[in-house]
Amino acid sequence: MRLEALPAALAQVVGERGLVTDETDLHPYCHDWRHMFKGHPLCAVLPRNTREVAEVVRLCVAAGVAVVPHGGNTGLSGGATPDGSGRQVVLSVARMNAIRDIDVMGETIEVEAGCILQTAQEAVDDKGLLLPITLAAEGSACIGGIVATNAGGTNVLRYGMARSRILGLEVVTADGQVINGLRRLRKDNAGYDWKQWFIGSEGTLGIVTAAVLQLAPKPRYRVTALLAVRSPADALQVLCAARLAIGETLTGFELMSGAALERVTRHQHLKVPLGDAAWYVLLEASSSLPGLRDATESFLGEVLEKEIATDGVVAESARQEADLWALRESITEAEGREGRSVKHDVSVPISSIPDFLKTADEAVMRAFPEARINTFGHAGDGNLHYNVIVPAALDALALNRLVHDVVVSFGGSISAEHGIGQYRVDELVRCRAPVELAMARRIKAALDPQNTLNPGKVFALR
Ligand code: FAD
Ligand code: MLT
Ligand code: ZN
Repeated sequence: MRLEALPAALAQVVGERGLVTDETDLHPYCHDWRHMFKGHPLCAVLPRNTREVAEVVRLCVAAGVAVVPHGGNTGLSGGATPDGSGRQVVLSVARMNAIRDIDVMGETIEVEAGCILQTAQEAVDDKGLLLPITLAAEGSACIGGIVATNAGGTNVLRYGMARSRILGLEVVTADGQVINGLRRLRKDNAGYDWKQWFIGSEGTLGIVTAAVLQLAPKPRYRVTALLAVRSPADALQVLCAARLAIGETLTGFELMSGAALERVTRHQHLKVPLGDAAWYVLLEASSSLPGLRDATESFLGEVLEKEIATDGVVAESARQEADLWALRESITEAEGREGRSVKHDVSVPISSIPDFLKTADEAVMRAFPEARINTFGHAGDGNLHYNVIVPAALDALALNRLVHDVVVSFGGSISAEHGIGQYRVDELVRCRAPVELAMARRIKAALDPQNTLNPGKVFALR
């Protein structure tokens, strides 16, 4: 099929309302959330169901055109943004947003790829169930995007990454076939667990059209506290004390630098209910057993008495809990308002966090004295957002390399949760062993031999 004939053929499949070609209407598909990456597709298509997704893919294959899957567009690595060739088709799953089934006894939800994460969370809430994937972008991020990026978030230390909640997937392959693997089984060792290949593959191996997610019982009690600490090492002391005192009820353990929260107060006009400190910890515990509040308050009393933490406050109401979380969840917005930020979404072994931060801070400030570091993140699982606010002219790649070299020297990863997208393609090649990259390329070649799905993302293949 000729390229010029493709939009009309696609409209036959998805209907006129499912095809976007108008320049103004195409705009949201031309850039990522941070406006860091820009592109221009031939058109965008919004199929209504899995059959239409498969037909769209088959037409694109016939026209030799690449397909860029698109969810809520909250990704932070440019994975959903097309290139500038005008020869790629953006496939948005926005119109496929049904919740197909909630199985209360089995604790599962079956949901289409375009369903917003928060909508799925709310749908199970009054059934005494919890969809335990939580991130600041949950009001816009879609289930398909969550699966495709293997999203993390603020409760990974208790519930794991998105991967650990995914029981089944429905996927459209690169040649337009539908694989229905929407099984609700917790145990399934019948051959290869192929769904794992698609989780975290950032739209390069298949298009996720629906998923079965494992829910959890919704805890009846929750305690949220903000603590001031002198250093990341002291924050880890608090983490150890929490593990001993309240064990598996620990649900969130976020580290925030004083500088990061100062930016939140200035740009988002929120108030930190404690005095100025070098570092803060936001801690959440949850359980269905009574006694959680007493146990948490007693352990917090001990860390304050031993001066591991210098100050602290426990939320007394749902409103106060939300206010404390708003401080944490506003950091990305505030960072964006502060100027140009260069993001590093890294993980290191938890015990290495203090030494990593010391080494990285010294290296960055030596090489780039004009930089301002904005450190925060999910310290309870070893993931730090080591973001650096820099002048417009600064060489971001040189900064990336410097930080990632420190990360690698601590046995860490250059992407803990945001993925590679188009942002970290070259850095992945530099930081991962050739044998690992070669194996990944063989999987890509096997599942997408024509490089139809999201070319240029994750790999440098074009
Ligand atoms: P998109 O941005 O649309 O796409 C992301 C990638 O997935 C792209 O490569 C795209 O091609 C692919 N894709 C999308 N849909 C499909 C599909 N149906 N099939 C196949 N591929 C698909 N991430 C975290 O992990 N943890 C956090 O704590 C976190 N916090 C964030 C906070 C803010 C304020 C923001 C803006 C983002 C944050 N993110 C976080 C990043 C982002 O929200 C996640 O990566 C999320 O999973 C992306 O979902 P999305 O629907 O927006 O996907
Ligand atoms: C978050 O945890 O808030 C985001 O993943 C971090 C970011 O914006 O870098
Ligand atoms: Zn994060």
